[in-house]
Order: sequence, then C-alpha cells, then structure tokens
Amino acid sequence: MSIGSQLHCKFEVPEIIFGRGLLSQVGSCARRLGGKKVFLVSDQGLFNAGWVDRVMKSLLDADLSFVFYDQVTSNPKDFEIEQGAKEYIANGADVIVGLGGGSAMDAAKGIAILVSNGGNICAYAGNDKIHRPLPPLVLCPTTCGTGSDVSQFVVVNNTQERCKLTIMSRCVAPDISLTDPDTLLTLPDEYVGTTAMDALTHAVEAFFSVASSTLTDVNALRALRLLSNSLADAVQERRPEDMETLARASLHAGMAFSNSLLGIGHALSHPIGGLYDANHGSVNAALLPEVLLYDFPVVTDKIAEMARAMGFQAVNDLGGAKEMAYETIMEMLEVAGAPNSLRELGVRKEDLPLLAQRAIKDICVMTSPRETDEEDLLALLQRAF
Ligand SMILES: [Fe+2]
Repeated sequence: MSIGSQLHCKFEVPEIIFGRGLLSQVGSCARRLGGKKVFLVSDQGLFNAGWVDRVMKSLLDADLSFVFYDQVTSNPKDFEIEQGAKEYIANGADVIVGLGGGSAMDAAKGIAILVSNGGNICAYAGNDKIHRPLPPLVLCPTTCGTGSDVSQFVVVNNTQERCKLTIMSRCVAPDISLTDPDTLLTLPDEYVGTTAMDALTHAVEAFFSVASSTLTDVNALRALRLLSNSLADAVQERRPEDMETLARASLHAGMAFSNSLLGIGHALSHPIGGLYDANHGSVNAALLPEVLLYDFPVVTDKIAEMARAMGFQAVNDLGGAKEMAYETIMEMLEVAGAPNSLRELGVRKEDLPLLAQRAIKDICVMTSPRETDEEDLLALLQRAF
C-alpha cells in the first residue's frame, strides 16, 4: 500500500448487503459461495435475543447444514479461535458465518485463517503473513461500531502476554458483509454508546491517517455526518431509524479505516484492551480527546472539512473550525456515556510505561498523521489518565 498519496490508493471492500430484515438472506449468501456445511460463530447474548435462531432458519431454508460455535468472549482470545478451528475441521465445515460484534466476527476471521493456514493465531500478527486463501466468509455485524465486517484486520488477544495483536491482510476481508440493522434493536443500552464511540474513533482516525485517500475520506466524512446527526437520538430514543443510521455510520467508518488504517488512538487502545480486557469503544472514547489535541496541529488542512461534515457550514477560520469539531466530538462522547479518564476503566498508573512501550509497536502507529515516539505516547496516556 502506498502511504500518504491521494493519487495512488487501493480501496477494497467486500460485497455489501444492507437492509432491515435481510438476516434471512444469510443462507442464500452462504450457498452461493459454494458452502454445504456452515460453521456459525456467534455468542450466547445473540442466541438469547433470537438472532442465532433467525440465521439457523435461513441456513435450513437454503438446504445447508451447520455447526454452532459460541465459545467467544469479548476481546476474542487466542485459545477460543484455536478451539473453533479444531471444531470446524472436525465437523467438515466449508463456509464460515460470523454473527455478532467485533469479537464474534474477529473470532470467525481468526478461525478462517487457521483452518486454511494452520499453526498458532498469534503467529499471523503484523502485515501480510497469510499465504493460503481463506474459506468463504460471511460476516453479519450486530453492533454499531466495529467495522470488522468490512475490514482487512483481525484483533486477537494473546492471553499469555495479555496483549492484543493486530493481523492485517487483504485476505481477511470477508466475501460478504451483511448488515441487518434490526439486530441493533436488542443491543444492550451500554453497547449502543460504546460501539458508536468505536465507529466515531474509526472515522476520525481514518480521516487523519497518512494513508487516507479521496475514497476513504468520503466514507470517513459520511460516518461523521451520520453520527453527529443521529447519535443523541439513537442513545436516548433507540428508534429503528436511528439504529439504522448508526449501522450505516459504522459501515462507512469501517470502509474508511480498512483502507486507510488508523492512528495512535487505536495503537494505545489495543494494549489497554489486552492488559485489562477492557471495552474497546470505552477505551477509545477515553483517549479520543487527547488524540484530537495531539493530531490537530498536523491536520490543519482537514479540520474545516471535518467541521462542515458535522454540520457547520459557515466555517471561516482554522481556530473556529477546530473549536467546532472538538466541541461536537466532546458532545457526542458525553451523550454516548464516555468515561472521563482511563482511571475509570481500571487502568493502573504504574502500567502506563508498559502500555506506551507496547503501543509504539502497534501497526496503527504506522499511519499516525503526526510522527510519534514512546515518550509522546506515555505523555498522552498520562494526560488521559
Ligand atoms: Fe476500533
């Protein structure tokens, strides 16, 4: 990938199916990818909410058999993925459907990597280490944030090191991303805010990334517009149309960051999530104000556009644009229930140097708009603490 060029860019997205009630199409999607036996990865929450049953019915309607795997927890663990791969192989499955938030979808992707490439999932961390093609993959997001259903990333928790690892490869983008926004109607209240904050962070970091392009910018800005218009209503009223807008924002933010990567917000968020098993969207939200202030001096050409996307048409000067953009994002974070500090999330002050040490090695540092080092990252963590 060419970093930092508006002219040379690659933009890759899966086939995208989006619409209320379309979960009933999962079976026909898996069938036309050539599947006969589906390995369905989801979690107990979605099973209890009835969505897993809906997918199972769709698979049966398409004359497909299936195996259900629900041994997935938040911040998906290496051993959960390795167990899933064993069960996929033991059952002779030939297509994978992931239904859920980032955890279920990343687990589904991780299982897909292992069943065709073998070995230990942590060995694939980094850029382009997957050499054999994956089995057909259909991902169905049920939160408003992760973007995993369109992204070229898998984030896995290395449980021995208690550290999140990022796997980046074009082959982990699924064949089909299918969003049925109705699934968001049963999302527990706290996850509406936290996953939307993840989408918000994706949009901001993708827009600021040195690998951004006109194709990623248009998606990042659309996500910012949708979030600024609908987040408050979605959190407070949860009408189906608001949830659909959040799902759309997540999709746009996902298409943006999958192709432009992210920045130091996610580079810092990954080690925090790994060490404390903390909620990804909440960690991003606690970091985002400081990330904005850190990045603003080097993205001055983008701030007015960002403010306009969030509804400020009459932006005349840089100072005003910065204030409008910053204040609007602060309001969104507040409405979504963002924590005020890392301390609130259980981060310990004595761990900050270790977190900075791990963050500087994270792949997301590569596309930070501002050149950074461990010292700067530690200082940022201290300010956000
Ligand atoms: Fe994220």
